[in-house]
Amino acid sequence: MATQATADIGLIGLAVMGQNLVLNMDDHGYTVAVFNRTVEKVDEFVQGPARGTKVIGTHSLEELVQTLKRPRRVMMLVKAGKPVDDFIEQLIPLLEEGDIIIDGGNSNYNDTIRRTKYVESKGLLYIGTGVSGGEEGARHGPSIMPGGSPAAWPHVKPIFQDIAAKVDDGSPCCDWVGEDGAGHFVKMVHNGIEYGDMQIIAEAYHLMKEGLGMSNAAMSEVFGRWNEGQLDSYLIEITRDILGYRSEDGEEIIDKILDTAGQKGTGKWTAVSALEMGIPLTLIGEAVFARFLSALKDERVEASRVLSGPDPAYDGDREAFIRDLEEAVYAAKIISYAQGYMLMRAAAGEYGWNLNYGGIALMWRGGCIIRSVFLGRIKEAFDDDPGLSNLLLAPYFRDAMENAQAAWRRVVARAVALGIPTPALSSALAFFDGYRRERLPANLIQAQRDYFGAHTYERVDRPRGEFFHTNWTGEGGAVTAGSYEA
Ligand code: 2AM
Repeated sequence: MATQATADIGLIGLAVMGQNLVLNMDDHGYTVAVFNRTVEKVDEFVQGPARGTKVIGTHSLEELVQTLKRPRRVMMLVKAGKPVDDFIEQLIPLLEEGDIIIDGGNSNYNDTIRRTKYVESKGLLYIGTGVSGGEEGARHGPSIMPGGSPAAWPHVKPIFQDIAAKVDDGSPCCDWVGEDGAGHFVKMVHNGIEYGDMQIIAEAYHLMKEGLGMSNAAMSEVFGRWNEGQLDSYLIEITRDILGYRSEDGEEIIDKILDTAGQKGTGKWTAVSALEMGIPLTLIGEAVFARFLSALKDERVEASRVLSGPDPAYDGDREAFIRDLEEAVYAAKIISYAQGYMLMRAAAGEYGWNLNYGGIALMWRGGCIIRSVFLGRIKEAFDDDPGLSNLLLAPYFRDAMENAQAAWRRVVARAVALGIPTPALSSALAFFDGYRRERLPANLIQAQRDYFGAHTYERVDRPRGEFFHTNWTGEGGAVTAGSYEA
């Protein structure tokens, strides 16, 4: 007997994220058919967490596809990499023109670019979408960042926007991001920004803990206060809670946790793509490197016995320092997002994506780890000026940098004097001081390159595109092809 095509969407991959997305879709009235490689998990899910829902368990991909209304929508939430390609291969012969394959996992955007082209070449449509917010978000409202075949978007839009997180005015944290790999690219940048935000907060914690010698309870109180102001965000809120947490026997767990940060690699991908595209994404880069340095625990333990530095105790006005620190954190955060947007703009140029910059801020505004009031400011900046070339040039952020910078400089100077590392706070300031300068010392670098390698240079008093070479030593100095003797 042929199975009736009654399901709105099929979902492959019943790990926690997959299960929670299915239950979320079911809550919103959609009929979801499910499948999993290890088929027993289908029955465990249908008889367990999905008991009493409309979820349909299927035991083969053929059966899954037969239960779906057309155009068929099949969403994968499986391990990134080969499993995604394997399922695509198995699905293609079962699907028909106009059907849609969706990858909701943490795929690399380069894979998604390739897969979109491939699946489209088979007459099908493809979506690669970032889904952020962890297990809790998946269950009750994630941030969803879809890209791929534009023709697929109208067919998945109602489901995705219904299950996504909503901001205060009811707007969903999900909109079309752009062509082929754009959704996964933006999700990757989101993760990179998450690394940056976490590193900035960790540096503030380090300064308060070592510089001011504050207790966890006192720091929790500071983060709680910050969470009421311009830094209002999920990560500041959980930091408040983490520092305030006591186990049942009164232990302050934070002090017992080994200081080596793990990573799954998306922050590294963000930094690598910035290096490839030539974008100075310094803060996220430093955040990734700081995790690498933290992971060298054994080496650091040895080095700590050999290398010394100043006494980290701060003897100035503590309340003033904490006020400065709040400004420094805010300023560095603005730099990090400005850099993230520079990277997205470069990628849009490189890959031909029409990115919706304000919409991206709105997608991150709720549901995901970097959600914050601050993202509303970014959305407003792009609403006011959709052609905005750099966030730092928007009036709100220009004024914010103006207000914060004296405090930010005091914090970085003090951190350097106390010997407390602040790679994110300091590199952000170095970026700011470079970006706001008409003239940088790269003229000297060009002179050196020309001196040792006859690499030529352009001149400030001549049009761009004319190249000059100087015979610096009076000896040899072969003239490079296409250059002028100057
Ligand atoms: P499993 O339950 O059969 O392991 C997250 O790990 C999801 O990806 C799970 O649904 C898991 O299926 C699936 N998955 C992991 N590796 C896979 C592979 N090589 N092929 C197919 N599915 C895989």
